[in-house]
Amino acid sequence: MACFFRRTIAAKLSRTLHHPEDAFIPALSAVPVSKKHPSPDFRLSVGALRLGGVLPADGDIQAQAESLATKLKRDNVLDEISAGQGTITFKTHRQLLVQRMLEPFGKEGTEFGLDSELFSTLKKGTTLVEFSSPNIAKKFHAGHLRSTIIGNFIANLKESLGNHVIRMNYLGDWGMQFGLLGAGFDQFGSQEKLEENPLQHLFDVYVRVNREAESNEDVRRAAGDFFRKLEQREDRAMSLWQQLREMTVKEYRQVYKRLGVHFDVYSGESFHRDQAQQVVQRLHGQGLLKTTERGTAVVDLSPTGDMSSCSTVLRSDGTSLYITRDIAAAIDRKDKFQFDEMIYVTDKSQQNHFHQLFQILQAMGHSWAERCQHVSFGLVQGMSTRSGEVVFLEDVLDEARARMLRNMSQSKTTKTTDDPEDTAEKVGMSALIVQDFRGLLESDYKFDWDRMLQAQGDTGVFLQYTHARLRSLIRNNNGSGEGGEIDPSLLLEQRSIVILQHLLRFDEVLYQSAQDLQPRHLVNFLTKLCHLVASAHKELPVKGSPQSVAQARLRLFSGSCSVLANGMKILGISPVEKM
Ligand code: ARG
Repeated sequence: MACFFRRTIAAKLSRTLHHPEDAFIPALSAVPVSKKHPSPDFRLSVGALRLGGVLPADGDIQAQAESLATKLKRDNVLDEISAGQGTITFKTHRQLLVQRMLEPFGKEGTEFGLDSELFSTLKKGTTLVEFSSPNIAKKFHAGHLRSTIIGNFIANLKESLGNHVIRMNYLGDWGMQFGLLGAGFDQFGSQEKLEENPLQHLFDVYVRVNREAESNEDVRRAAGDFFRKLEQREDRAMSLWQQLREMTVKEYRQVYKRLGVHFDVYSGESFHRDQAQQVVQRLHGQGLLKTTERGTAVVDLSPTGDMSSCSTVLRSDGTSLYITRDIAAAIDRKDKFQFDEMIYVTDKSQQNHFHQLFQILQAMGHSWAERCQHVSFGLVQGMSTRSGEVVFLEDVLDEARARMLRNMSQSKTTKTTDDPEDTAEKVGMSALIVQDFRGLLESDYKFDWDRMLQAQGDTGVFLQYTHARLRSLIRNNNGSGEGGEIDPSLLLEQRSIVILQHLLRFDEVLYQSAQDLQPRHLVNFLTKLCHLVASAHKELPVKGSPQSVAQARLRLFSGSCSVLANGMKILGISPVEKM
């Protein structure tokens, strides 16, 4: 496996340069493969060794590389050692590469790449990821969809690297909007419609009451009254609110399930309304509050105390704000879950909000705020369906499924599957996810159904298609050839070597994603893997080859398939068996 080779090279360097092995691991990386010409397997950055104090930082870097390369002798693992541009490159023995890389796939239950020594430097602990977080009765917009799939990816990644992960949904379930909704429901609500289609009905009521409130003073007053009753925990208001919340959560659970997403905790702003008042008391006690002329209470976050940057935490009527509830929620989560890190996933319009939140927590003496992070992402333009604007998450899922079903029925290569709807849904979802994950999360992008659903090109459909093809190859040949010994000398064609070289990078790619929480590294890695597999599939047939060759090739393909499937699952995609 990748770690075996990295260790061996590090040990060799350690003996030659008299530094501990670990000093070399970060400077070593697997070389990205090229389809055109053969490449070495690993490269060592001489610059990184200079930075790490292993080599003197002055002197000609190229000369250092060359002198080091001549000192390192070939052995029975390393076939070629040469100096490149400020690097040393290593080529391993081809047979050993084949043998070591395919070994884990011969056994059941090995998580290829996930036991890499690269991860030993990463802190493991409890990670709380807060994501999705829609607002009751309001639209589930593209930002919520992005938060959902990005947060799910981060949670999956952290989990596969050995962290204990808590997935939390923080609903927008409090605030003046509930005054409107409550008052609106009293006027235009229907229990029957609510039972029938809760999300739709609540949305309709909310839209209608908002429209009325614009021109009708009475409606505004009723909304204010309703919210006051809620704040005072009046029974009838509370039980209506409770019912609306419960029904919404129940619906959401179903839709998230279709997406393959689950939450451990459905929290919400409402949980922290009392604590928010205590937070204000604490801030006051710590001398961090200033009262403005308008009667609001603010925390001054400017370095010189001139209020050039500040955050309002209390309205003049004494009610709390979004940020006040967030301060309370963060403290409460720390108490309850003892997280080592907390990650919030929202669009970039909330950057300032989270920046201020972390600053206030710090000012209150919560040094763990340092381990809170906001992962922000760009805007999506033009997410709509045939029937118009997207209002509910379900709309997007339905549209993706319908479009994919149509594509599948028109394609000649489509296989008959037991449940075409289910397959279409999974493939449609993967298209959506890959489109979203291809660029930097911070970038905005244009939503494009046709492009994302193409079978060729770097799409989620292509990943699914490759996976299904590999699975069918394995099925047709009665399993993956698990257990049996394979002969590594039968896999020395360039087409198979390059796949194995590519797999050497898997742990590095995961490591990189864990560092910057960007899914595109993994997307690129898997797409490339699929391209390499497609070429190999053509040139290295299993069917019709002598038994031992067929067996060896099958192992190569089943290994690729398992890495592909694991990678897809981390991205939040359920691999399909047939399509
Ligand atoms: N409900 C909010 C919205 O839709 C997102 C919540 C983000 N999380 C938080 N802790 N503030 O904009």
